[in-house]
Amino acid sequence: MPHKGLKIAKSMKLFSDALEVMPGGASSNARLWQTAQFCPIYTPCTIFAKRAYGANIWDVDGNKYIDYRLGFGPIILGHSYPAVSEALHREERKGTVYALDNELELKVSERIIDMVPSAEMVRFSVTGTEATMHAIRLARAYTGKDVILKFEGHFHGDHDYLLYSTSPPYTTRKRPYAQSAGIPKAIDRLVKVETFNNFDAIEKTVKENHRRLAAIILEPIMGNAAGIMPKPGYLKFLKELCDDYDVLLIFDEVKTGFRVARGGAQELFGVRPNISTIGKAMSNGYPISAIVGEEDIMQHFGPGPHKVTHGGTYASNPVSLTAADATLNILKNREVYGRLYRYGEKLMKGISAILEEQDVQAVVQGHPTMFQYVPTDRKEIHNYRELGNSAGMELYAKIQYWLLTKGVMLDEDSQECWYTCLAHSSRNDLKPTLDAFRFAVERAKNSKFKATRFKLPQNTA
Ligand SMILES: Cc1ncc(COP(=O)(O)O)c(C=O)c1O
Repeated sequence: MPHKGLKIAKSMKLFSDALEVMPGGASSNARLWQTAQFCPIYTPCTIFAKRAYGANIWDVDGNKYIDYRLGFGPIILGHSYPAVSEALHREERKGTVYALDNELELKVSERIIDMVPSAEMVRFSVTGTEATMHAIRLARAYTGKDVILKFEGHFHGDHDYLLYSTSPPYTTRKRPYAQSAGIPKAIDRLVKVETFNNFDAIEKTVKENHRRLAAIILEPIMGNAAGIMPKPGYLKFLKELCDDYDVLLIFDEVKTGFRVARGGAQELFGVRPNISTIGKAMSNGYPISAIVGEEDIMQHFGPGPHKVTHGGTYASNPVSLTAADATLNILKNREVYGRLYRYGEKLMKGISAILEEQDVQAVVQGHPTMFQYVPTDRKEIHNYRELGNSAGMELYAKIQYWLLTKGVMLDEDSQECWYTCLAHSSRNDLKPTLDAFRFAVERAKNSKFKATRFKLPQNTA
């Protein structure tokens, strides 16, 4: 049975009903918590959300949590942020989809061009998946080459072309490693996978393959692998390497865009990619993404047999654009980022101090707006393989469970990050979070959970 510290009966009932109508009981595999072997509540299953406001999220059992998942990163201002909600209420009666250009498209494009250093032109899509899919099509058309190089542990969405080696078993040597059934084998030869932060390996691969290599795509900060940072100079090195060999550099800033800085990771690290993809924080939680880049490359989008197809019924719909316009209107002010950083820095420091005081060896890494702690005896972590450590994962899973019992929601997947938003406040959230974290670490170290699977209320096994 689930531990009595956490009320989840309604969630579990809904989840068992969900299993009847949705494969796996969810609309996204990423929402299914899977650490069944470590904690008493997971089957895999998911908690059912009821509502979210500011820095908080409530579930159907009435539990209130300080939310550090923030929808996997989009919420940068706070849930249901008033200025965004009000803009939407004002605009909602004007229609939701036009299949025509609209003025907001121009306004939001101009905002992006003003804020993102490498953005000379903009195309809108709906999801990050669509954005990276179109970005690599654009790179292939522009260069006339087919192969795309990506890094292990970097995630670029769900389409077949890049769903490789995003979280392979730590023991596998296979590269590229297809992360889903159903990906045509024929695509394997269009993908090269390298180890992040290894200067020599990438140089060798680019030298040997540049005639077939259209682009290198990467997450400048590894938002899907516990916030691993680039080594100093690594992103600049990649840009120079790409320039030397006529390969395009694509920053996938779906997570870092408008989050780690006003101009994203490219502003933070001072490196200009040729193409970037942005999503999530751009609209504080509404479905919109953008492909941005240098004008001569972007001009390849357009109709006709020699141009690059890009479109979508909901691309640049006025609802998402309204949310993006209202969100960027706030994020354009640099001081907002100072506030965001200060909270995240205090949180990272507090977490480090507690882990040290509790004798848990760990690395706390990433950026104050998206970071993670990794129980490990390493001093630093530079790539996906160095994350591999099952003892650390067990401790992480237990800590996550005990945090939930104290009203702090962190993702169950240790490769996700803690996300912070403007609604997190030092006055209301910092102490409760750190108190909960200290409690969770203490309990996790001494928890005697067996590898029990929570039994669902109905026969759904
Ligand atoms: C870096 C990155 N790129 C692309 C995607 C895909 O975005 P979406 O889920 O909106 O399709 C994600 C999703 O988390 C991501 O983290």
